[in-house]
Amino acid sequence: MVRIAVFASGRGSNFSAIARAVKSGRIKASLTLLVCDTAGAGVLAKAKRAAVKTVLVKREDFPAKKDFEAQIIRHLEEEKIDLIAMAGFMRILSPEFVGRFKDKIINIHPALLPAFKGGHAIKDAFDYGVKVTGVTVHFVDEKMDHGPIILQEEVEIKQGDTLESLEERIHKIEHKLYPKAISLFIEGKLKIEGRKVK
Ligand code: GRF
Repeated sequence: MVRIAVFASGRGSNFSAIARAVKSGRIKASLTLLVCDTAGAGVLAKAKRAAVKTVLVKREDFPAKKDFEAQIIRHLEEEKIDLIAMAGFMRILSPEFVGRFKDKIINIHPALLPAFKGGHAIKDAFDYGVKVTGVTVHFVDEKMDHGPIILQEEVEIKQGDTLESLEERIHKIEHKLYPKAISLFIEGKLKIEGRKVK
């Protein structure tokens, strides 16, 4: 059974979507661990409710980024994690970390990459006035919001949309798309440059 760790810093709606999909059997895996770097983040309460083991690893408790990541790696090794699903973890992992878990880290981004990278993608797309934005799930490499794309889905920006109404539609798609991408990984259906992963 594939053992999943979700990395999240925020409210955790994607964590909950993954937890629901695991519980209902749509994702045939174990949601083994939540790694969170932010005390008081909404995702912590959600993990507690879902009875998922949580570790809070705060960057400020470590002298250097490599020590912070080493602590996270210790937890991942202890729990024998096979797949890391980033869901609003607001940090860029070092090339060493990414190399250590090569082809085993995926991320969800609320825009159609490579457009609108960064932490305010929905607002940036809305403010730019694009007619179509969307959601991307991709493998993580050393660069921010970058790496081989697994799934994308378009979201139209309609006349009369507000930032809030757009956010709501995008999150709804995220909650469907992320479990689907995770299932594809688990079923061994994903390839990177022709090479099978998992
Ligand atoms: C999502 O929009 C995700 O695409 C982005 O961060 C947000 C996390 O939201 N990477 P939540 O914490 O899962 O509700």
